[in-house]
Amino acid sequence: MKVSARPRHKGGVGAPVPHDSAYGHVDGGAIYIDDMSEPRGCLHAHLVTSRWGRARLKRIDTSRALAMPGVRAVVTAADIKGTNEVSATIPGEPLLAPEFVEYVGHPLAAVAADTPELARAAAAAVVVEAEPLPAVLTVREALAKEQWVLPPMLMRRGDDPGPIIAKAPHRFRGDIEVGGQDHFYLEGQVALAIPQEGGMEVWSSTQHPTEVQHMVARILGLPQSAVTGLVRRMGGGFGGKESQATHIACYAALLASRTGRPVKLRLDRDDDMTITGKRHPFLLQWDVGVDGHGRILAVDMLLAANAGWSTDLTPGVLGRALSHADNAYFFPHVRLRGYGCKTNLQSATAFRGFGGPQGMMGCEAMIEQIARSLKLDPLAVRRINLYGGNGRDLTPYHQQVRHFRLPAMLDQILASSDFASRRKAVDAFNAANPVLKKGISASLVKFGISFNKIDLNQAGALVLVYEDGSILLNHGGTEMGQGLFTKVAQVVAEVFAVDLDKVRLSPTSTAKIPNTSATAASAGADLNGMAAKIAAEAIKVRMAAFAAQHFDVPESEVAFEDNHIVAGNHKIAFADLALHAKHARVKLSEAAYYRTPDVHFDPKTMTGRPFYYYAYGVAVSEVAIDTLTGEWKPLRTDILHDVGASLNPSLDKGQIEGGFIQGMGWLTMEELVWNSEGRILTHAPSTYKIPSARDLPRDFRVELLPNAPNEEASVYRSKAVGEPPLMLALSVWQALVDAVAAAGGGGAPRLDAPATPERILGAIARLRESAMAGA
Ligand code: MTE
Ligand code: MOS
Repeated sequence: MKVSARPRHKGGVGAPVPHDSAYGHVDGGAIYIDDMSEPRGCLHAHLVTSRWGRARLKRIDTSRALAMPGVRAVVTAADIKGTNEVSATIPGEPLLAPEFVEYVGHPLAAVAADTPELARAAAAAVVVEAEPLPAVLTVREALAKEQWVLPPMLMRRGDDPGPIIAKAPHRFRGDIEVGGQDHFYLEGQVALAIPQEGGMEVWSSTQHPTEVQHMVARILGLPQSAVTGLVRRMGGGFGGKESQATHIACYAALLASRTGRPVKLRLDRDDDMTITGKRHPFLLQWDVGVDGHGRILAVDMLLAANAGWSTDLTPGVLGRALSHADNAYFFPHVRLRGYGCKTNLQSATAFRGFGGPQGMMGCEAMIEQIARSLKLDPLAVRRINLYGGNGRDLTPYHQQVRHFRLPAMLDQILASSDFASRRKAVDAFNAANPVLKKGISASLVKFGISFNKIDLNQAGALVLVYEDGSILLNHGGTEMGQGLFTKVAQVVAEVFAVDLDKVRLSPTSTAKIPNTSATAASAGADLNGMAAKIAAEAIKVRMAAFAAQHFDVPESEVAFEDNHIVAGNHKIAFADLALHAKHARVKLSEAAYYRTPDVHFDPKTMTGRPFYYYAYGVAVSEVAIDTLTGEWKPLRTDILHDVGASLNPSLDKGQIEGGFIQGMGWLTMEELVWNSEGRILTHAPSTYKIPSARDLPRDFRVELLPNAPNEEASVYRSKAVGEPPLMLALSVWQALVDAVAAAGGGGAPRLDAPATPERILGAIARLRESAMAGA
């Protein structure tokens, strides 16, 4: 007998449906802010920025600009009616520089004019006089001068590592510099501010509409209730629109308030890269004691971030760097010191991984040094130091590592990637080839999920069922390409057992969901998915109770399946039940709220359980380098990544592939260059190289860890996926180190990131020199 599966609604949880805007992204149907029809009388804005790395402003003369026909307003700090302060964390970040400009690109005035071209010309006509002051550009200089954007951080567990390291069988000291990264979202920063009766509506390409609302209110001196922040989608955010989109929105709102007309501000690529912040470059310095097997006894590490001119999100980024400096390994005694160094550059900000990748680079560079100095297999050293059992499961912030999936995942990827025989083949290739050298390496990633600032772990949703059975979904998360809207809609479709196309997505609006957190820390689906689930379930309970009463059956006999409600022997379409329910005065909408359980953290002692759970990943990468030019190619990468029970395997794979490639760009080719005055020279794709399709590994295999529901009660037992895969690119950097070591004839290479051809050549040369000196 043939058993047919029960018919199921389409596109529920776990279905590999495409991104809700996949077609729209391609055919132009997806509307971004710059595509919206401009309201009547819309003006265009341009920013006047500092040409000094640091200076005291003496005079801003706007008269020539204002005299130009079509120029409607020029505003400076003096024109701000509310409070000139837009820091996302520690105050000290004016929207427009009142007295000091602190980097080349620092906005000090804003212009509104009839056209973008006119606004640009008028901005150039604003005369600025200033007294230049000495600027500090590098993290080492700021560290030496002890100039911080926040108090130093200290995370420790166990005994003072100093004496233990001093007594250890082996001691290694080292450091590495890791560069920043431009977000290079395809859609640049943009905002459209539209004056309302007594208030302001602001469409902003932002990951954080609530912060836009709150800061616009502050700048304009309005109550928050008078301002609405809105966004339907971003063309990429990657952390770059978490805090800094707010500023763009505020300039537009300030000019809109001044002129009483709608104002749009859209930065072109060069201005965007010159004005806005990037990933924090880091200097990582360690002192470590190990035994003869490479087992770590104690670690003392310094993590110094180049924070740029203001605090911005550096507290969170630095905190996450510290809490990921252990990566997947147990440090019996550990001290981690974090410094947010103030320099005269763009204010560094959130970027996928939020400091985690930089902290993990410190850790993995340290492990490479240990293994290669002791002539041990780096993989063996990684393995011997992994968390697991026997008191070896406490992190430096005192959270216990539970449900540690990495040892088993490592075994799986080594087997499926055929690691052992490829390791031998790489060694044989290197023995036979003097010019080309190959490298191969396996890496592990453990990434903590939840905001380490505990109060941010909350979300809201508003679900509306209309009498025709169609559903409108609102939640506080934002869509930046990661597929959040699709996933949350799948959750709602699953609860009601209706097809996904019954669920319509609403733009994110602060007028519907108040006091939200930024869509960040990969927590978007965890938080908003859960809030939407709670809302939909509340409506479902009322509809089920109504169906039971309507058909006169016990509630236990009511089920939602395949777009219908079954009540005993009765079956009714979801839409018909909605109509009956409405007539019977059953409430068909719900606003719900969710907060992550069980997380806590004391920022003073830097201890607690900041993460609800961990997401895990493993990767094996093989590369080849040309020792004459330093050029390299990724030959093959295998990834096994843990997303729990996937909400959507297609979207999750997309996130893993995209995250890995973005990480590879950061570690190997995306190089930011500033000149000695602090002017960024890499401010366009002509000079700043991001990976393209041709830079993909020739052979690229991505798998989701099967049958692995989250042990914690996350939404449908899924795990967050947005950031963790970026760090799988560590395997590429490690493979490059492996190839460089082969080229240099052994030893421990020092390979700063990004590992550009120049740095690869330099690393080989240094190894060869020290081999010669030693011989
Ligand atoms: N994927 C795309 N396509 N575009 C993006 O801007 N941002 C990343 C990641 N994946 C991003 C992305 C970052 S930095 C984060 S924190 C998460 O998505 C945010 O979304 P989530 O919380 O819904 O995963
Ligand atoms: Mo992501 S860096 O947390 O926006």
